[in-house]
Amino acid sequence: MTDTALIARLIDRLLVPRIGHPPGNWPRRVYEVIQRMAEAAGTDPVQLLNRALAGESTRLGDALVDAATVGHTSFFRHAEQFAELRARLPAIASKRRRPLKVWCAACSTGEEAYSVALAAEQAGVAIEILATDVNPVAIQIARVGHYHSTRPGRVPGGPASRSWNAPPHLKERIAFAVASIVEPDALLGPFDVIFCRNVLIYFDREDVAEILATLSELLRPDGMLIISPADAVLPIPSCLARTSAAGFLKPSGEAPMSARWVLPNRPATLRPPVSVGAIPVVAPQSPSEPPLVRAARLLGAGDPSGAELVLTELLNRDPGHISGWFLLGEALLQRDERAQARAVFLRASRCDPSRAEDVDGEALRRAALSRATALGA
Ligand SMILES: C[S@@+](CC[C@H](N)C(=O)[O-])C[C@H]1O[C@@H](n2cnc3c(N)ncnc32)[C@H](O)[C@@H]1O
Repeated sequence: MTDTALIARLIDRLLVPRIGHPPGNWPRRVYEVIQRMAEAAGTDPVQLLNRALAGESTRLGDALVDAATVGHTSFFRHAEQFAELRARLPAIASKRRRPLKVWCAACSTGEEAYSVALAAEQAGVAIEILATDVNPVAIQIARVGHYHSTRPGRVPGGPASRSWNAPPHLKERIAFAVASIVEPDALLGPFDVIFCRNVLIYFDREDVAEILATLSELLRPDGMLIISPADAVLPIPSCLARTSAAGFLKPSGEAPMSARWVLPNRPATLRPPVSVGAIPVVAPQSPSEPPLVRAARLLGAGDPSGAELVLTELLNRDPGHISGWFLLGEALLQRDERAQARAVFLRASRCDPSRAEDVDGEALRRAALSRATALGA
């Protein structure tokens, strides 16, 4: 085995159990971090990885999780979901005699959790937030709660605001911790609201339903689980039902049928199957115009959100549609959702190229892979 292949195998062994993402396809910066740290330690990458696997150093593991994960986030990301949250929180709160319990399950550097705290404050609802992420570096930044932006209006405080420090009364309501969504047993449930946005796309499709089923077990019967609008292309287990608001799921009343999440390096037979609910049509479609043509037209007209809806519906019906995934990547890029776009291009690159119609599927697959690689740099 070449050194490169061995290094790739060791990275898989270190990262897959820790973050649950499928092996291989790690961003280039993972390799750069190993090289840099090996040079600094006066050793070679293989030895360094073996030491980390033997538990002799947690530093490399933490640095690799940081390099392997994509922490792109922003305040009030998917603003329409926060408007919906503000509208729904008072009704749930009126049924409780205590603050609502919210879990932000992949909170990155904290913007999402602080946005939830601010939204609850605006809605006049008391909440307690548990905000977790698998990346210890991101959690450190979240705990500090100081944010700066080169462009005005990207942080709370008004349209001219360029920096924001989380005020103590908001910080008091949020407990930040390092945890993975694939082993949530130790977390305190049940929750009234769980956010799990823009992270499911990094998992294998068949694992997504399992993760969602496990999260649903930590949700109160009248609670809500919020995924991102683009996550609608992923399989939703039948223990959860979609609602009229994009990305808002609620318990369907059906049993989750899942044991606790089993880490990816354990035998697959331990996992009972999760039944996947019926997939609804997301957007009405003109019978005359094929969805791909329609999506491309919307994209060309500068309407990536419209294209995303059409493609979501297409991919729900046909998850192996390489051109659909490719165009979805383009739509996400147009919205500057670079991390999501990378994951979607990677997905396109794993589709069967012979399924492509009217285009050279192999060329499309290569183009998807090179876009993903460029975005991972
Ligand atoms: C693209 S960010 C999304 C942040 C935020 N939820 C949002 O929508 O803006 C994805 C985050 O998921 C985290 N993540 C990846 N795998 C995870 C896992 N297994 N458990 C918890 N967090 C994970 C990454 O570290 C990263 O911070």
